[in-house]
Amino acid sequence: MTAASVIEALRPRFGDRIATSHAIRDQHSRDMSRLPPCLPDAVVWPETEAEVQDILRQCHAAGVPVIPYGAGSSMEGHTIPVRNGITVNTSRMNRIREIAAEDLLAVVEPGVTRLQLNTDLRATGLTFPIDPGADASLGGMASTRGSGTMAVRYGTMRENVLALRVVLPDGRVIRTGSRARKSSTGYDLTHLIVGSEGTLGIITELTVRLHPVPEAVSAAICAFPSVRAAVEAVIETVQSGIPVARVEFLDQVAIANVNSHSGLTLPVAPTLLFEFHGSPAWVDEQARTVQDITESHQASAFRWSSEADERRVLWQARHDLYWATRAMRPGAAIYTGDICVPISRLADAIESARDDIDASSLPGQIIGHVGDGNFHTAYLFDPDNPEEVAEAERLAHRLAERALAAGGTVSGEHGIGAGKLGLMREEHGDAVDVMKAVKAALDPRGIMNPGKMGDAG
Ligand code: MLT
Ligand code: ZN
Repeated sequence: MTAASVIEALRPRFGDRIATSHAIRDQHSRDMSRLPPCLPDAVVWPETEAEVQDILRQCHAAGVPVIPYGAGSSMEGHTIPVRNGITVNTSRMNRIREIAAEDLLAVVEPGVTRLQLNTDLRATGLTFPIDPGADASLGGMASTRGSGTMAVRYGTMRENVLALRVVLPDGRVIRTGSRARKSSTGYDLTHLIVGSEGTLGIITELTVRLHPVPEAVSAAICAFPSVRAAVEAVIETVQSGIPVARVEFLDQVAIANVNSHSGLTLPVAPTLLFEFHGSPAWVDEQARTVQDITESHQASAFRWSSEADERRVLWQARHDLYWATRAMRPGAAIYTGDICVPISRLADAIESARDDIDASSLPGQIIGHVGDGNFHTAYLFDPDNPEEVAEAERLAHRLAERALAAGGTVSGEHGIGAGKLGLMREEHGDAVDVMKAVKAALDPRGIMNPGKMGDAG
């Protein structure tokens, strides 16, 4: 059987919820990564778990690839159908099934977005803080183990997903985990599925942790004479055990981009952006301690504010950085890097990454969730110029090798997707064979998101 026969088999049930027009397939052929687009054969929008089962049963029987699709905000090509197939867009599975405030949890369908959940939580005094920047779907965030600016305080999706319902490639449904905060029973299938990038099944329900909205929030910003001084201030802050809610690094190039894109007038220098959560007194104390630490690392212009509007402007500017980056070279493509290293190695890693960019012919910036030891590079290159493509790849590979040499990982949060497949064995060695055995056991026909981490060489 072929994709065409699967499409015909699904059409009576899905009607106009299965599309084969070029425009729709084109929309689902790309994401936010630099990777080339590739068209799916069709896109289908299930509304229930039973419909997901139906799609997977048909594709399993026919050996047709299935590409799970959340909000399309991947930075590494997770949703690009590199071997064509049927894209399963979960955006219509967007019901919030339960908010159990007394247990600090919510049960949601995979297409529910972070903003949607937080809007529903407004009256409860609770929040779902994981914030990758884009308004990603929770199913996509779980599949890619998303994190972002709040991970230093609240963890990543790994720490915030308690339980799942998953449709396996042959159409069976499993339930993993529970509503309890801890358990010592069984293999941890929840955390196998979280981060498996849609290569083992499709998530149809998530039970996620909620957190109390902090009583007080304040933000601080300060500039440093060098990248190393800024990063050493972060290292000391983290090693002192101060529970910062966010600490973001922007190098001087990123600050210039933010200023021009968001109309700000920040000093053009390596900069840290902090946020503190807690009681009013505790927030003040954290900010004062961090001010002392940063000043001992030659910070200037330390400004802190508990004004919500001022904070919103700063964080919006930070989240808009991806778009601001483009101003460095209009029309160019962005090659993003994303490594994470042990905190003690962070200053060396960022400084070497900056030196590499400066020694190259490509413009580039560095930003990062440095409280976790995680940072991103962005190199602007012309995708039609083979020398520039090769140079961007060289820079990215050097970055990844430095991360591994430092005991870190080639991706802190953007994942493997289609872009970093070649680095799986460099990072995980023979453990890749164990991962492939798991993949073969759950997906013997190899239909789930082919060309991604399940197919590492
Ligand atoms: C971020 O931190 O803003 C995102 O991971 C995207 C990016 O790398 O720009
Ligand atoms: Zn990020």
